[in-house]
Amino acid sequence: MKTEAAPFRLEDYRAPAFTIDTVALDFQLDPPATRVTATLSIRANTEEARKGRLELIGDEIVLKGLKLDGVAVPASHYIATPSLLTLTDVPKGPFTLEIETIVDPAANTKLMGLYRTSGTYCTQCEAEGFRRITYFLDRPDVLAVYTTRLEAEKSDAPILLANGNPVESGDIPGTDRHFAIWHDPFPKPSYLFAMVAGDLGVITDRFTTMSGRDVELRIYCEHGKEARCTYAMDALKRSMKWDEDVFGLEYDLDIFVIVAVSDFNMGAMENKGLNVFNDKYVLADPDAATDADYANVEGVIAHEYFHNWTGNRITCRDWFQLCLKEGLTVFRDQEFSSDMRSRAVKRIADVRTLQARQFPEDGGPLAHPVRPEIYHEISNFYTPTVYEKGAEVVRMLKSILGPDDFRKGMDLYVKRHDGDAATIEDFLASFADATGVDLSQFKLWYSQAGTPQIVARGAYDEAAKSYKLTLTQSLAATPGQSQKRPMHMPIRFGLIGPNGDDMDYASVSGGRVDRDIIHLTEASQTLVFEGVGGRPVPSLLRGFSAPVRLAIDISASDLLFQARTDTDPFNRWQAVQTLAMRNLVAGTAEQIAGRAPKVEPALIDALGGVLDNDTLEPAFRAQVLQLPSEADIARELGQDVDPEAIAAARTALRLAISTGLGDRLERHYARLSGETDFHPDATSAGRRALRNTLLDLRLARRSPDAIAAALTHFEAATNMTDRLAALATITQAALPERRAVLDAFHDRYANDALVLDKWLTLEATVPAPDTLDRVKALLKHPSYSPNNPNRVRALVGSFAGANQTQFNRADGAGYDFLADFALDLDKRNPQTTARLLVSFRSWRALEPVRRARAEAALRRIAAAKDLSPDTLDIVTRTLA
Ligand code: ARG
Ligand code: ZN
Repeated sequence: MKTEAAPFRLEDYRAPAFTIDTVALDFQLDPPATRVTATLSIRANTEEARKGRLELIGDEIVLKGLKLDGVAVPASHYIATPSLLTLTDVPKGPFTLEIETIVDPAANTKLMGLYRTSGTYCTQCEAEGFRRITYFLDRPDVLAVYTTRLEAEKSDAPILLANGNPVESGDIPGTDRHFAIWHDPFPKPSYLFAMVAGDLGVITDRFTTMSGRDVELRIYCEHGKEARCTYAMDALKRSMKWDEDVFGLEYDLDIFVIVAVSDFNMGAMENKGLNVFNDKYVLADPDAATDADYANVEGVIAHEYFHNWTGNRITCRDWFQLCLKEGLTVFRDQEFSSDMRSRAVKRIADVRTLQARQFPEDGGPLAHPVRPEIYHEISNFYTPTVYEKGAEVVRMLKSILGPDDFRKGMDLYVKRHDGDAATIEDFLASFADATGVDLSQFKLWYSQAGTPQIVARGAYDEAAKSYKLTLTQSLAATPGQSQKRPMHMPIRFGLIGPNGDDMDYASVSGGRVDRDIIHLTEASQTLVFEGVGGRPVPSLLRGFSAPVRLAIDISASDLLFQARTDTDPFNRWQAVQTLAMRNLVAGTAEQIAGRAPKVEPALIDALGGVLDNDTLEPAFRAQVLQLPSEADIARELGQDVDPEAIAAARTALRLAISTGLGDRLERHYARLSGETDFHPDATSAGRRALRNTLLDLRLARRSPDAIAAALTHFEAATNMTDRLAALATITQAALPERRAVLDAFHDRYANDALVLDKWLTLEATVPAPDTLDRVKALLKHPSYSPNNPNRVRALVGSFAGANQTQFNRADGAGYDFLADFALDLDKRNPQTTARLLVSFRSWRALEPVRRARAEAALRRIAAAKDLSPDTLDIVTRTLA
């Protein structure tokens, strides 16, 4: 087993010894041998630097030439390895270093640095990709002004793009080559550098900023896909306007460019003025994209655009501060989508994602603080904790301060730190200084890993008309953190009275309560509300006001009452989910014991009440009718997880609900039918979501008429949302009819890679014993491509991450398959490999047989020779 290199620690941060003020880059583009000339103006930043030793970082770099102030550096004055360039005798004053390197974009399968995707040259530099282009001070606190010159064969790359504004372009006389020069006046770290060159289609538009500046907007894509970029363009303009309206933040260059590429390790990248996107987050049309895809395009376009301020104008001092830009920017894109769509439905969807992705991370071996303090491989820290929990922390800050003071803090942060590489301390100080609020206890959210648990107990004293509420917080140990301190948690709440309205109270003691927020700051607090007119049903954690688990002793009938009356839509949804989860946990135990499952009648009543309530928006009703997933149940159980028993319990409950709701499912389905025009807006999407949810619930009966209805729904669909929903319903039920429908779907979209990803995902998530063999066979299918991350994630990622019963087969074959696959892919694309292996993160919670098999597969990976640092890091921490 390979041992790891020394880790990076937050406490070891030192300001850079040298700094780089300007960077001039020249790219002579050629697929196997691109020549890069980087001209850097460098100056010493510390006394230590004046001793003359300069170290620049590289990664697989081939050095071709080195000049200092125009003179070739003698061999005795430098040492160059592929990962480090050391100059031993640089001047005390400012100097210019010219570095010539050769890179091979065609052979770059890691998709970091400069690579080719479908014949287009593109770059990905965050976090540490720039060092694969040239030797550099590749760290986010070195901010320079970049000028980029690109030169390529005209036929190979008619389009030449880089950060900033276009300066000059033209032909190279006597050749079939041309060039373009771009200049970015805003100092930036190297991770925000980007260039793109290729033969691409484009759509253009314009935006006038609030101060009246005219900005040209362009979205580039593969030829023939231009029409699919219009929704992204619309989302971009709405994002630009929203950031002006809500945060007063205006765009700053003359042009904003987005490029959609088909090979991309992540979602998208906020390079200054030149965002590069995974094409799945740009392209959308009704025949190929679902409502969920439209919402994702809107959200990711907004996210990357919002980074222009929270990320680019104010960047991170070091990678430990990643949440400074990511958590804040996720919060901003979530707020944007809430304003564009239904706030309640967006919140439910975001909390579902948080609970599905972040909670298991926080509860397992990969747990880390929102601001990590140690890492081996930074690529592995682009996590749900940094992003999604990071956004929750910003949301709590807003709840604690209130909207007006939150905005004051944001304004001060931007004013103070524009142009800086900042820290979480800087961020919090801006809010504390703008408002006078002490945030020192709140800061623990950034350093303590794990999901806090809150236990709530309430008691009403009829005679005294007082209500006593005891809240106790605790936080389990996580890797490297055994002792935790109580945190400051905003608990949004209401006391629901007998008529369903929130009750007033005369006074409260035992803690600070601001309007509808309890400030929980102690390990345990007892709040006494006086003058409460009747026995309340407590509605706690409204809007999921803190990322915690709440345990509350509340009866099924109170939950049913809450589902009917709570003025907070999130908690209405939560009440039904809690009822369902109790049933599912009990049902799983009954499955294991071989007893018949029982169904709580209050649950059917609650679901029926929401279904029939026409004052509730359809999208909300769809969310309520969707039961917790198998993975949600596994997480709730937390130990000795038997995925087969969970799946059986869930199937049994779905059948009971389907039968219990009876022909109301058909009736509501019919009422929602007949819409043929497709509009991607949230209201139309909500009607489709409800109709598709009803179809799915009806099929839980597996009756011939329900099967026929699903097949008809598939045949009659006039958009991808409905077509895919029918297909998912049929495949999730593992009906024998699935083969023909999946094949028909494949053939219809045989030339559309993004739709084929949906097909691969459905194939990989069928809950049937032959799925693993099918997945293996699909690895050889012409529609699959072993080096494209989207294909890999669609097939293998979905199998391992979203097929609970088949990945976790009792014979361990699912684990062995993932291990073999990962060992092979690791040689080509370590980042994507490491991400796939995160599917093992909850292995310790499995029942003993599966646990042993998962561990054996992990140990086999760990024992392999030549693992990438990415994969070694994930496997080591998962086993620790
Ligand atoms: N900053 C990008 C975002 O907006 C993510 C890029 C991460 N890339 C990587 N290779 N780790 O979320
Ligand atoms: Zn981001």
